[in-house]
Amino acid sequence: MKFDTRYPSIDDLRTKAQKKIPKFAFEYLDGGCNEDVNLHRNTSELREVQLKPNYLRKHHGSSLKTKLFGVEYDAPFGIAPVGLQGLMWPNSPEILAKAAFEHNIPFILSTVTTTSIERASELTEGKAWFQLYHPTENRLRDDIIKRAAEAECPVLVILCDVPTFGFRPRDIRNGLAMPPKMNLKNILQVFGRPHWGIETLKHGIPNFEVLKPYMPKGLDLKQLGKFMDQTFSGRLNEEKIKPIRDMWKGKLVLKGVASEYDTEEAIRLGIDGIIVSNHGGRQLDAGQSTVKPLATISEKYGNQIEVMMDSGVRSGPDVARAMASGAKFTFMGRSFMYGVSALGKNGGNHTISLLKTELQQVMEQLCCEKTTDFPNHLIK
Ligand SMILES: Cc1cc2nc3c(=O)[nH]c(=O)nc-3n(C[C@H](O)[C@H](O)[C@H](O)COP(=O)(O)O)c2cc1C
Repeated sequence: MKFDTRYPSIDDLRTKAQKKIPKFAFEYLDGGCNEDVNLHRNTSELREVQLKPNYLRKHHGSSLKTKLFGVEYDAPFGIAPVGLQGLMWPNSPEILAKAAFEHNIPFILSTVTTTSIERASELTEGKAWFQLYHPTENRLRDDIIKRAAEAECPVLVILCDVPTFGFRPRDIRNGLAMPPKMNLKNILQVFGRPHWGIETLKHGIPNFEVLKPYMPKGLDLKQLGKFMDQTFSGRLNEEKIKPIRDMWKGKLVLKGVASEYDTEEAIRLGIDGIIVSNHGGRQLDAGQSTVKPLATISEKYGNQIEVMMDSGVRSGPDVARAMASGAKFTFMGRSFMYGVSALGKNGGNHTISLLKTELQQVMEQLCCEKTTDFPNHLIK
């Protein structure tokens, strides 16, 4: 086994992460929105999916290798974009980008995380994807897209599920809402997590590296919140997507799709792939779990656009369930961040190895030889 046997599940990593990082950082990572209904529904409804094994069928071996946008990846899952990663564990976007490169799986860099497009590209030899929060100003949009193209990002991901910031009571209580504030309670939590504190001091206070060139110097936290509010306009529409499609020569993916209407719009606007996602239950607490719209969307539109999925995936069997339900590829946000928050520089490698081992076991159990065969094992 290539992973640390003390942590044989994502839940073990979550428990360890909770002990290692300050409460405000853990709650930012772990929480959903409002009452966390959608957060839990994502995993619980995904786990209602059941798969059928064929034990007596001739088995020629199972392979996790999966093709997406003409690239063969070593597993059918990738690392979803997560903002403020350096807050949860210093250097975590670099740790995850490197691990993703070594395991040949996709890593998506968020606009609002703590490493730059250029650094992510360097660590992955130009394989990192980039997720763009839509800037208010065209000049800023064009500049960021140009940087992503120059860094040879193969895939640009735009988001449709953030017309407003999610309503997240824990982050509001902890002062992590916009504008953010560091209060005495948070400072005391840092003292309770000395390893995190020392590593953070060693690496320096995390910064929004993608946005640094555009930010006025010396902003205090309140001004930073205002800058973010003014810099991004969340609601996506045809007028905003069209110029991006014209400008971006690589593959373009729309993330946050949860309806047939948005899928049809994506196809009409020339988008290459969608990630059926509800942002890990962080935006619309009254929404569906992603596995529900996934099945209909992939059946109706899977031959016109690449259909991927995220939200609620926490294990190899979960990846198998999502793929059997129609996803061509899956992504995870929290699972990898729990891994790196728990195990630091070994967290990326450990989490990917664990998920690969679990998924391989599921495939062999089912007698599923290729990842495209998962739907044949779905019990309807
Ligand atoms: C702490 C946190 C921050 C996130 N930040 C971003 C972001 O900056 N951009 C983005 O597209 N999605 C963001 N997401 C959503 C993830 O990309 C992904 O959709 C989600 O984590 C999937 O659900 P899962 O965590 O259950 O795997 C974030 C998710 C979490 C948990």
